[in-house]
Amino acid sequence: PTGQLLDSRGRAVKDLRISVTDRCNFRCVYCMPKEVFDKDYAFLPRQSLLSFEEITRIARLFAAHGVTKIRLTGGEPLLRRNLERLVAQLAAIPGMEVTLTTNGVLLPKKAAALKAAGLSRVTVSLDSLDDTVFKAMNDMDVPVSDVLAGIDAAAAAGLGPVKINMVVKRGMNDQEIVPLARHFRGSGHILRFIEFMDVGSSNGWRMDDVIPSAEVIRRIGEHFPLEAIDPNYTGEVAERWRYVDGGGEIGVISSVTQAFCSTCTRARLSTEGRLYTCLFAQSGHDLRSLMRDNRSDAELSAAIGSIWQQRGDRYSEIRTAATAPLRKIEMSYIGG
Ligand code: GTP
Ligand code: 5AD
Ligand code: SF4
Ligand code: SF4
Repeated sequence: PTGQLLDSRGRAVKDLRISVTDRCNFRCVYCMPKEVFDKDYAFLPRQSLLSFEEITRIARLFAAHGVTKIRLTGGEPLLRRNLERLVAQLAAIPGMEVTLTTNGVLLPKKAAALKAAGLSRVTVSLDSLDDTVFKAMNDMDVPVSDVLAGIDAAAAAGLGPVKINMVVKRGMNDQEIVPLARHFRGSGHILRFIEFMDVGSSNGWRMDDVIPSAEVIRRIGEHFPLEAIDPNYTGEVAERWRYVDGGGEIGVISSVTQAFCSTCTRARLSTEGRLYTCLFAQSGHDLRSLMRDNRSDAELSAAIGSIWQQRGDRYSEIRTAATAPLRKIEMSYIGG
């Protein structure tokens, strides 16, 4: 081990989020709107993608720098063929927890193999329980029942408790906050409400579209009384609340109204092997070229170390109306 690696704001690197594909079988309006991600959109060619061996190599080097948690994302990570093989390689790194964020549709097919490969848990995105609203958001005519089946499959395979992420966009699905809360109360799953963020440059973000988490808590609390509970660990992204009557817990992720940059321990690896030190970074560091230029592990590790040491990102803390429209990396490329 290289020892404790800290960035310029004293933050260690603990989580590595890896995007394994820039493709998705959904076209969520807040993430991959069809006007941009249409049939002419140039997704990455296969040779641009990091191989499983390249991903695992980078993950091992990050582990030596202190990373203990990997989250596989996309795009839709389950579209990457044989993903369970990658999971097995990553789970074999000593002390590493491997998790996955998915839209859930392919979980009935994949959950058992993922569990067998060593995946710890899954997070499933679900923005509405109403088919009309949900189809308008995923824009691919996917019914709610397909996602619910995925959640059930994950739980049955032992990948629970499942976290369910709902991105809340005012005027689009905010009427679904209470119905979703009601549905998952008592299920053992953990529903989390995410403030709509200005990631990427194609989702037309406006502050008016954001429902502050405080309002989410207030709306749910009117039906089911809630109380705040302590975080599981420092730097946890979601703030936890529980139903006073024992109906379980929920979470809110408030990156717009209550930024959590001061404890941000996350690094992101894009589909083609660029390292980003912030979800809102304007550019990344090309690790793939270093690998394909036959650099040694020691050289790669030193490069990663110096990138992290120079990190000063805190975008959500300094977001203003003026920074929101800056050209940024799309979430489907960098990984949520
Ligand atoms: P666990 O605590 O292991 O469940 O991980 P997590 O909460 O980080 O998991 P998840 O991938 O579900 O993150 C939830 C959502 O929070 C993401 O999809 C993003 O929308 C948001 N998020 C996560 N990390 C960051 C971050 O570093 N910055 C910002 N601005 N948003 C983030
Ligand atoms: N704002 C907030 N969350 C987003 N996600 C994707 N785009 C956005 C956005 N603009 C979420 C998805 C999923 C995770 C990968 O990121 O809903 O839960
Ligand atoms: Fe796909 Fe997830 Fe983006 Fe929706 S939010 S388009 S499911 S990557
Ligand atoms: Fe971390 Fe950047 Fe998100 Fe802040 S905005 S929490 S620095 S990823």
